[in-house]
Amino acid sequence: MDLYRRLWRTSSVPFVFFLGFVLIFGTRVQAWSKEGHIMTCQIAQDLLEPEAAHAVRMLLPDYVDGNLSALCVWPDQIRHWYKYRWTSSLHFIDTPDETCNFDYIRDCHDPHGKKNMCVAGAIQNFTTQLSHYREGTSDRRYNMTEALLFLSHFMGDIHQPMHVGFTSDAGGNSIELRWFRHKSNLHHVWDREIILTAAKDFYGKDMSLLQQDIEGNFTDGIWHDDVASWKDCNDIFTCVNKWAVESINIACKWGYKGVESGVTLDDDYFNSRLPIVMKRIAQGGVRLAMILNWVFGEPVEDTIAAT
Ligand SMILES: *[C@@H]1O[C@H](CO)[C@@H](O)[C@H](O)[C@H]1NC(C)=O
Ligand SMILES: *[C@@H]1O[C@H](CO)[C@@H](O)[C@H](O)[C@H]1NC(C)=O
Ligand SMILES: *[C@@H]1O[C@H](CO)[C@@H](O)[C@H](O)[C@H]1NC(C)=O
Ligand SMILES: *[C@@H]1O[C@H](CO)[C@@H](O)[C@H](O)[C@H]1NC(C)=O
Repeated sequence: MDLYRRLWRTSSVPFVFFLGFVLIFGTRVQAWSKEGHIMTCQIAQDLLEPEAAHAVRMLLPDYVDGNLSALCVWPDQIRHWYKYRWTSSLHFIDTPDETCNFDYIRDCHDPHGKKNMCVAGAIQNFTTQLSHYREGTSDRRYNMTEALLFLSHFMGDIHQPMHVGFTSDAGGNSIELRWFRHKSNLHHVWDREIILTAAKDFYGKDMSLLQQDIEGNFTDGIWHDDVASWKDCNDIFTCVNKWAVESINIACKWGYKGVESGVTLDDDYFNSRLPIVMKRIAQGGVRLAMILNWVFGEPVEDTIAAT
């Protein structure tokens, strides 16, 4: 960190660094767009019980005034900083091409084979860290604010189906295509294009209206009867496995299906995938709230954090 800071202050080094980052990391980009992450976090925060709402507020820096979603994109902003380079593989899972399943031992590692360094491992890690918050032991090895932000962000990522995708195309990043009239790629279609097109076509570009519609659909709309089953998993390891499997299944059935480099995706693809994207954002939010209510709630059981 110090080295980095020192270099940063000297003349043109920042630019060279910046260029280096773009060249090295430019191909593997981002997560749910900021819009997707903001909605996931806002949905979650709206579902917090008082203890969890209080803990979240205490952990957030003052300048966001208790607004979790204001910092939910932070892990994307810092992932290529020297200090946080270790987090870069935590945003996704690469699965073997065309197998359409997820196996934790086989797939959850970074490109060097370091175990647990994938989005499923990260969610367990930061859930466990946060579960010590209540004990007030304030384990100094861990920064609880960062743990909260990482967890909140990665809960979004694990629900973005193309974040659990094939290795050789980097979760659809290298499948270049057209989204209606402009250039895009398959990964980005799921991160952002579908959300933005929906916002433009149906909500006058007002993301908060879109978010309210999602919330309405699980409080007493189309997903009302499903919400209990969304929360159906007993310990964090079982949960993350279930969520990753859901994502790769959707990636195969709806993401990759019928798509190859050079195609144009438009109304048919948009209309059939839109409900899936909305449901994944809803599930990410509901399940993030579930974890935060577990770790910060009344101390009842310790099963959750036992990983
Ligand atoms: C919280 O932050 C998000 C993202 O910056 C913003 O869209 C939203 O309006 C904020 N909410 C409040 C109540 O300020
Ligand atoms: C868990 O978090 C710590 C820092 O808080 C980090 O050093 C470690 O690599 C993380 N492991 C995973 C699997 O995310
Ligand atoms: C925890 O992390 C945040 C964000 O990186 C930082 O601003 C804060 O100073 C850290 N807190 C401690 C106690 O190190
Ligand atoms: C909510 O449900 C309505 C009624 O089925 C549907 O038309 C709308 O697209 C859904 N909205 C979202 C954001 O899922």
